[in-house]
Amino acid sequence: MTLSLARSLLVICAGLVHIVSPDRDSPLNTLIGQTFNLARLMKANSTVLLNTYLSHQGSPFSDSSFDARRLRYEGVPTAAIPFLEWRTLSHVKRVEKNYEAYTAFAEFLQLVRDDQFELNPTKVELLDMLKVTRLRIQGLLSNLTAIMSALGAPPAAVTDPLMLESVEADTFEKKVRGYVVCHTYKEWIDRTVKDFSLLAEKFPA
Ligand SMILES: *[C@@H]1O[C@H](CO)[C@@H](O)[C@H](O)[C@H]1NC(C)=O
Ligand SMILES: *[C@@H]1O[C@H](CO)[C@@H](O)[C@H](O)[C@H]1NC(C)=O
Repeated sequence: MTLSLARSLLVICAGLVHIVSPDRDSPLNTLIGQTFNLARLMKANSTVLLNTYLSHQGSPFSDSSFDARRLRYEGVPTAAIPFLEWRTLSHVKRVEKNYEAYTAFAEFLQLVRDDQFELNPTKVELLDMLKVTRLRIQGLLSNLTAIMSALGAPPAAVTDPLMLESVEADTFEKKVRGYVVCHTYKEWIDRTVKDFSLLAEKFPA
């Protein structure tokens, strides 16, 4: 193959690449890129939130050996999913699962903040982190809503996971509940980063 033929082929290939990804710079791709960035920042903060939370609950929570990652709390969404099932989710389903999870977390973070306001009223740093996390989740939900609408599947109303009567709990249960919320939120945001890493490949910004 002559050099000039190789060059023309390269030019043709470059042209084709351009043709097969015409959506680069589309609003949807930009939105997916923004959401990916937001999720990565939230992921970085989620570890700090969990550690700060545990450090203010006393023993056994504040013990360095404390590990109860298998604890669950009714209504708090778990991120666990078999790999193949996760990998083969449609774009719409993938975003929808995130939307459902964060709708629940927005509520549970409000509850945990209320609990901590009562149990730890002087731990301003923790109270602020809980508040900021909830605000970021609301921002994320707004992005997820926009993405779902752009994919032609705007979110349906989600069943409310939290009933008023289940808010009642003794001090220990409140601490456990807060732990489960902070810990599973961290697992979920890890999953969201993986979700958006995949979506960002399909919808390059
Ligand atoms: C991360 O935490 C810091 C300090 O609490 C806060 O100022 C910042 O807005 C947080 N960022 C995100 C994306 O949650
Ligand atoms: C999506 O998130 C980014 C970063 O937080 C924000 O600037 C943008 O306004 C959000 N878009 C929508 C539609 O919520």
